[in-house]
Amino acid sequence: MGEHTAQHTILVTGGAGYIGSHVVLQLVEAGERVVVLDDLSTGFREAVLGAELIVGNVGDQALVARVLHDHGVDTVMHFAARTIVPESVADPLRYYGNNTCATRNLLECCRDAGVKQIVFSSSAAVYGIPPGGAAREDTPLAPINPYGSSKLMSEWMLRDLAAAGGPRYVALRYFNVAGCDPEGRIGQSTKKATLLVKVACEAALGKRPRLSIFGTDYPTPDGTGVRDYIHVADLARAHLDALRYLRDGGASTTLNCGYGHGYSVREVLAAVGRAHGAPVPYVEEPRRAGDPPSLIAVSDKIRDTLGWQPRHDDLDFIARTALAWERRLPASEPAS
Ligand code: UD1
Repeated sequence: MGEHTAQHTILVTGGAGYIGSHVVLQLVEAGERVVVLDDLSTGFREAVLGAELIVGNVGDQALVARVLHDHGVDTVMHFAARTIVPESVADPLRYYGNNTCATRNLLECCRDAGVKQIVFSSSAAVYGIPPGGAAREDTPLAPINPYGSSKLMSEWMLRDLAAAGGPRYVALRYFNVAGCDPEGRIGQSTKKATLLVKVACEAALGKRPRLSIFGTDYPTPDGTGVRDYIHVADLARAHLDALRYLRDGGASTTLNCGYGHGYSVREVLAAVGRAHGAPVPYVEEPRRAGDPPSLIAVSDKIRDTLGWQPRHDDLDFIARTALAWERRLPASEPAS
């Protein structure tokens, strides 16, 4: 790489995954130079559009150091992680290994290479079950599963490294990310999906016989769980806003990524049914262990700090884009 390319390259770890690939697309469209590092354990080669893909693990320090050096990386966006909550309960060390230890190794490489800024994918799972169902960034952090703990430990490493003169960072705490690229180029291809909107789309299209509503006796308006669903394109935009903020010299910060209001499971099913033109088949089942009744972002801080403005705060739009992508995917994978 010559002198000119030694500026402003962004390394996106996990850029072949659901959220990472949508961020890569927006970065490339904005004219950024991007290189993706992904081990393809859950990501897809064809989801990386317009950027070089290096297949490898983010915990591999020799590889990461080489990529940072050869590409002149000054910014890292770190998505690579395992994200399935029940899996984290069953195999916690895998989560502390893949999420926490790998992040630690990545951060060491970033420090040594003089990376200037980091945008980190954190999660609302760091809050556990917040009192009243709404979480502000200063709500006490009390994760209730290893996935949430693994993300919180990564936040702490970022904080402590920045305080010691390491890269400045924005940690984004995602709420319930859903929907797909509005232009239909990429989407959520995750196999054995567990997330509600995708599962509902699979049930609508007959890829699984029905959806299970987990719990109808919550203290919510219709008895089902309420979540803050954010369109993946709006979430991706927040990463570009965070990049601009850091480049302008912004101080390290942690921000919720949600719209600030929620929908119930039944409302999500109704929206997917409207998008499909027929009701989604479902059965009512007992509560799923570890599910809070309600989890909604207080999102004033991201709006104030980054000037972030959602463009797709519309459950029907989320459902339409998710369903459009689901129609394109082959039904080869057994869904449950
Ligand atoms: C969980 C995590 C979140 C993590 C995300 C991705 C918690 C509290 N949340 O989100 O941090 O980022 O997974 O792994 O740990 N539901 C059904 N039927 C289904 C699927 C879901 O009724 O088949 C309901 C759930 O009970 C819940 C809502 O739909 O009320 C959303 O569930 P889901 O999409 O799985 O996401 P979370 O559990 O909220």
